[in-house]
Amino acid sequence: MEFENVILEKTDAVAIVRVNRPKVLNALNRKTMEELECVFFELKNDAQIKAVILTGSGDKAFIAGADIKEISGYQAGNGTQFAHYGQSVLALIENLGKPVLAAINGYALGGGLEIAMACHLRLASARAKMGQPEINLGVIPGFGGTQRLARLVGEGRAMELVLSGDAIPAAEALRIGLVNQVHPPEELMDKAWALAEKIAAKGGLAVRYAMEAVHHGLQGSLAEGLNLEAKLFGLCCATEDKTEGTSAFLEKRNPAFKDR
Ligand code: CAA
Repeated sequence: MEFENVILEKTDAVAIVRVNRPKVLNALNRKTMEELECVFFELKNDAQIKAVILTGSGDKAFIAGADIKEISGYQAGNGTQFAHYGQSVLALIENLGKPVLAAINGYALGGGLEIAMACHLRLASARAKMGQPEINLGVIPGFGGTQRLARLVGEGRAMELVLSGDAIPAAEALRIGLVNQVHPPEELMDKAWALAEKIAAKGGLAVRYAMEAVHHGLQGSLAEGLNLEAKLFGLCCATEDKTEGTSAFLEKRNPAFKDR
């Protein structure tokens, strides 16, 4: 399928999704969100794809937020609807069942940082800047920023970013745990690709259950999380991949996982 604002490339087990509106720093208008929804829905159901990289076109921005022109026309009703819709697209990414790596190649602001936080791993260019500047527009984050940011970096730091509207450089984002890695701009995609391929070579079921245990475990109590972990560990033990992985270790060879 051809899209206007999103480019999808697939190579073996890894897909790259590129938001492509460089003239407006890849701002997310409704059409782009709808295209992202289609693309991620396709990737969720594509058994060949085992990891996804999300990035932005051009060398200046990952995504500079939701489209401010569109936001300027919203009233209470369609504003709430827009936020719910954006949140549902980000939930699709978060619950994809395979890892999505954000390759943050420049500005990740507002909805841009929010979509990066719905990804499972974040790698940033040393030139990237990240923040929740919505307060400067008289609004608040609407795609989950008030919730995921606090869970990632703690309430105090999230509050500071959301209330000041300041953007922080990549090095600071690394220091506070907002991103996993920072790389020179020219190396970012290679590093993201290498990590995506490394994870794609693991057993897909174990990857899915590991993500589920970490992510959903954090939503409840420690006891609930440990219970979930034990159940998912048991499910792993029933897979062919577990037989293959343990046999390969004992036979001193590399495993060949089949995601079964
Ligand atoms: N929406 C629409 N257009 C945007 C945009 C956005 N979020 N961000 C940038 N653009 C457009 C600019 O209007 C400009 O267009 P023109 O050339 O037609 O004037 C073009 O992209 C280039 O931007 P600048 O000239 O501003 O570039 P700069 O280098 O001077 O500044 C920037 C870069 C600091 C990122 C600045 O563009 C900026 O502050 N952008 C807005 C960031 C923002 O507030 N994001 C939050 C949006 S609200 C949101 O996301 C709500 C939510 O939670 C869902």
